[in-house]
Amino acid sequence: MSDTTEPSALNQPEITRRTFLFWGWGAFLAFLASSVGSVLRFFLPNVLYEPSQKFRAGKVLDYPLGVTIDKANRVWIIRDSKGLYGMWARCTHLGCTPNWFPAEARFRCPCHGSNFSAEGDVIAGPAPKPLWRVQVTQTPQGDLLVDKAVMENRPGFRDKAPFFINV
Ligand code: FES
Repeated sequence: MSDTTEPSALNQPEITRRTFLFWGWGAFLAFLASSVGSVLRFFLPNVLYEPSQKFRAGKVLDYPLGVTIDKANRVWIIRDSKGLYGMWARCTHLGCTPNWFPAEARFRCPCHGSNFSAEGDVIAGPAPKPLWRVQVTQTPQGDLLVDKAVMENRPGFRDKAPFFINV
């Protein structure tokens, strides 16, 4: 007595061979394209563009005897009786900025108490290495060029050009 034909089965869209192949090939080609794209992405380097570490810091002869702080560039320019050199104002322990105490003639780090001489050598504290000297050169016009990308802290090397200028 009952009608055996189910209405839902009659309403199903027919999947033809052509439709099946169209979607199957489409999915395969999409997968292939994304795989090739992923492999090609490895050939593009992840480059972090940072500002140049080189800058002009005024006239060499304008620097007075003692320590001059360039806060914007985080360097100290130090002139003594022999010449001029620059130091990166970054503690070699964990990277804090030490302060210069002229009365004690030393840099003292506020974070964990490292002390450094005016030459950058460790006097006290947990810092494992001397402060880094930065490259300093003088242009023919007498300008001071500082390059923080070139550094040295070994005695005997840091006291010569290009980390020291005889003034
Ligand atoms: S960061 Fe300077 S002593 Fe630790």
